[in-house]
Amino acid sequence: MKTLLLKAENTADIKKAAEILRNGGLVAIPTETVYGLAANAFDGDAAAAIFAAKGRPQDNPLIVHVSSFEEIPPLVKEVDPRLKALAEKFWPGPLTVITPKSQLIPDAVSGGLDTVGIRMPSHPTAQAIIKEAGVPLAAPSANASGRPSPTSAQHVAEDMDGRIDAIVDGGKSDVGVESTIITLATTPPTLLRPGGITPEQLEEVLGEIQISHAVFEQLAEGEKVQSPGMKYKHYSPAAQVTIIKGSFEQYKNFLLAQKDEVCAVCFCGEGKNFTKAIEYGAENDSFSQAKGFFDALREVDALGCKRAFVRCPASSGIGLAVYNRLLRSAAFREIDLDIKIPVIGLTGQTGAGKSTVSAMLAERGFLVSDADILARRAVENREVISLLCREFGDDVIKDGVLDRRELARRAFATPEGSQALNLITHPEITRLAVEDIHAAHSLGKKAAVLDAALLFESCLESLCDLKISVVADEETRLERIMKRDSISREDALLRMKAQKPEQYYIEKSDIVINNNNGSDLNTQIENITDKF
Ligand code: TXA
Ligand code: MG
Repeated sequence: MKTLLLKAENTADIKKAAEILRNGGLVAIPTETVYGLAANAFDGDAAAAIFAAKGRPQDNPLIVHVSSFEEIPPLVKEVDPRLKALAEKFWPGPLTVITPKSQLIPDAVSGGLDTVGIRMPSHPTAQAIIKEAGVPLAAPSANASGRPSPTSAQHVAEDMDGRIDAIVDGGKSDVGVESTIITLATTPPTLLRPGGITPEQLEEVLGEIQISHAVFEQLAEGEKVQSPGMKYKHYSPAAQVTIIKGSFEQYKNFLLAQKDEVCAVCFCGEGKNFTKAIEYGAENDSFSQAKGFFDALREVDALGCKRAFVRCPASSGIGLAVYNRLLRSAAFREIDLDIKIPVIGLTGQTGAGKSTVSAMLAERGFLVSDADILARRAVENREVISLLCREFGDDVIKDGVLDRRELARRAFATPEGSQALNLITHPEITRLAVEDIHAAHSLGKKAAVLDAALLFESCLESLCDLKISVVADEETRLERIMKRDSISREDALLRMKAQKPEQYYIEKSDIVINNNNGSDLNTQIENITDKF
């Protein structure tokens, strides 16, 4: 299919778009929030074509767009006075109201639900096209399902060229995030999706409202939802996204300490500190962040970055909408760098006795977090698993669980494979480590210890205030490994050879603990613990 490119300022083009829509076609139209992929809302087949073009799950209903209040009564079971009150205050504008539907709304539009979401957009082009078409328009955001929502005709073309009849170019969307969704079908009404109209504004009209927990939290697997759209992974670029909380200084130090390439998605004026950066709005201006956010996510892919670390926006006002979209694009992965407890990195060659030292530190009031355990937990994360499947093939999953042996076989076959595995797992490992560090603080521990054989090769190093290596003579380590793992001298030697030399650890550490047989470990450890 050839997709026509139409211009909002051409009256003939508006007429053309309306004609396509009346004839059951699909047209992407500009709205003040994001671009919508429109079809005649009374035409079930046309609505079905939207799902096909977007690759959207069938149970995820579409919003019906009108240009005046008079168009509403036939669409709903009855006109709720609260709908009228909301309309008077916020329409035309970025608000969708859900209310019981009439028979005229096809199941394909409502996703089989007995309610319908209605919105009156304020964008003059959207208004003109609805009027000219003479029918209400069912329209989801005009992105391919799962991708960031489109805020320009260019974004729509990236996802939809060749799949729909036409795109009407009306410039950049003004708000930049989708409408606020409130349902009147619950008591009190429930905010299902934050957007341009804030909870406070809604309460002025409706009195008490509740905010769906799905606004902030990941749904449990199989959980029943009020808004089917909440179930799906959303707004995601191909790159893996992680949210970073804390000051700019903390963000900067953390990003600059990353061993692999990352893209900084930050606020205006901050980008110059990084090799790859995209600024998505001004730090204290949620409106500018809303406007730039989806564009920034698409830009991450355009720059060819595999990982993006995003500065966390303030979550008040329209900032709540930005934060909600960011949480979904990051599969809810947040790292809070505002760490309130000292962090000790503990490492050393195999057989040097790192575990003995970490056990002694645990006994003395330190919380020890073991990187091997974190790495195992990281690959239990749903999003990490799906990224691993994309990288290494779907068959690293057997009977619904990750086959770690098969994954290791594929990943460690090449240096590129190992690097790809690290890129995918490190942000989640870091998140888990930081979670342990915060837990150590809440538990009143003196410090958190990150026990990691690959401390200096991993991103964990950047979290540490003090780095300690445990060393022991080669012969001592050899004997310990043979005994611990019941292996031959040759095999033990092979393992030792695969590691970095002792000097590497010594040079990178603040403190070196000597753990040969007969060394006084107690005194060495007390010298450290005395500092905390
Ligand atoms: O700003 C917007 O709302 C944009 C523009 C194009 O108007 N549209 C938009 O549509 O964002 P969409 O389909 O991408 O998101 C609509 C969300 C979905 O999560 C869907 O599950 C939910 O609204 N929704 C629609 N009708 C619903 C209903 N009857 N009950 C519960 N949720 C509903
Ligand atoms: Mg959408």
